[in-house]
Amino acid sequence: MNIHINRQSDESLHMQICRQMEDKIRSGLLGNGTKLPSLRKFAGQLKVNPLTINKAYKELEKKGYLDIIHGKGVFVKNQKDNGLPKNQYDWQSSLSHYLFRSQFFHHHQPRYQVQLSNAVIHAGLLPAHFLAKEIKKMLEEEPRALVTYSPVQGDEELRFEIAEYLAAHCSLETSMENVLITSGIQQAIELIAKTFIGPGDIVITEAPTYSAAIDVFLNRGAKMISVPVDEHGLRTDLLSQIIHKYPPKLIYVNPNFQNPTGTVMSLQRRKELLEMAQLHEAIIVEDDTFHELFFDNTPPPLSMKSLDRDGHVIYLKGFSKAIAPGVRIGAVVSDGAIPRLLTSAKASMDLGSPLLIQKAILPFFKTQRMLEHMEKLRIALQLRRDHTMEILKQYVDDHVSWVVPKGGLNLWLTFPKQINTDELLLELQKHSITFLPGSACYPYDPEFHHLRLSYSLLSEDELKKGVHAFGQLVKKYVEEKLGNSE
Ligand SMILES: Cc1ncc(COP(=O)(O)O)c(C=O)c1O
Repeated sequence: MNIHINRQSDESLHMQICRQMEDKIRSGLLGNGTKLPSLRKFAGQLKVNPLTINKAYKELEKKGYLDIIHGKGVFVKNQKDNGLPKNQYDWQSSLSHYLFRSQFFHHHQPRYQVQLSNAVIHAGLLPAHFLAKEIKKMLEEEPRALVTYSPVQGDEELRFEIAEYLAAHCSLETSMENVLITSGIQQAIELIAKTFIGPGDIVITEAPTYSAAIDVFLNRGAKMISVPVDEHGLRTDLLSQIIHKYPPKLIYVNPNFQNPTGTVMSLQRRKELLEMAQLHEAIIVEDDTFHELFFDNTPPPLSMKSLDRDGHVIYLKGFSKAIAPGVRIGAVVSDGAIPRLLTSAKASMDLGSPLLIQKAILPFFKTQRMLEHMEKLRIALQLRRDHTMEILKQYVDDHVSWVVPKGGLNLWLTFPKQINTDELLLELQKHSITFLPGSACYPYDPEFHHLRLSYSLLSEDELKKGVHAFGQLVKKYVEEKLGNSE
């Protein structure tokens, strides 16, 4: 079985094995009933002591992932039908791969009717017709865009418009020379990791954090350190206590309406974080995917990038949420030598983003239409947030807490510690309801008593019905569990 052992890690060997196997079982890569290798065989493969494997198996059994049947072997306990093929493809579960959290993406499959797992905006709220019209026009007027490469750094006109947009809407003054166009922010994170992170480099993130960023850094062999967030964002007081021991090469944060917690980092903490990065010569990656999606007419505080005087901050502006995920356009703003390095990384990855779509999205940045769209989007999302919270209060007020998100797409629910939301997910999926279990948002030691509920994907009616159904089932589940544990 494919398990990566890091002997330099502070984490014990049995916990490393346990965590990776847990990921495989929870994500469905290790299917129900799969027979696991014997202690000796597995220990031989991983070059560890059989006692270490025994300890890991015992731990997984305690957590309900394995059945250890004396005389027969060790089996993955029935986690429910995970929809993966279980016949001629079974051999693939032992293939080496380096995707850790990304395995959880299959929870977003459309086969679940009540999708509360997907931090994506309902298609009806996005300007599909406007974009389709512009693409058609582009194809007629400039078919050349189909038969040429884009400049690797991105179309010049688009970079100019994005620099103007950032000054007008994100209080960030920059110039088009400092803007790199990427295929979404996911690619930007990948480019940055590929450029700056190698085995053993320390990456600090918020805990919890955006799950798909975790994979990118782990894939590069990073040693990840998680610093908790509270309602004012990353706990800089805690970071200041450990940063000397673990000097980071890179700090990845999502300060506005953070994914998954929805919190906003205060201006004070932004300044403190920037100071620490300067002192330790670290890079801050400021992922500003949700900037425009603020509620109550209250935009987020100044970005760290706007306070950065010496190129410590790489700022990522995504447009998947505010405009459309399908266009795959993101922008990276950086200074000094970094823009050239990242452009080289982009060249080696894909030689530039498609020109057609870069040209087609341009008019959106120039029209009044964009401002009206953002305004409507904010109102629609705030309404969905409010409905969700009102309905949840009817069912789970006593047992669940959350920080009211002041923008963005997600509500982060915290349950009593006895509740395991991985288990809850399996229960709700039987009723075709899905959410993101909190455990997917931590690189090493997951907390199991949280979940992320995204209120943005469903129509208003679907959402209301879905949250009622979710609330009823969660209430029943929590009361049963707490009753049993008293
Ligand atoms: C915090 C964060 N960063 C980046 C992304 C990826 O965005 P994009 O679609 O621009 O690649 C997401 C998507 O949900 C996100 O939540």
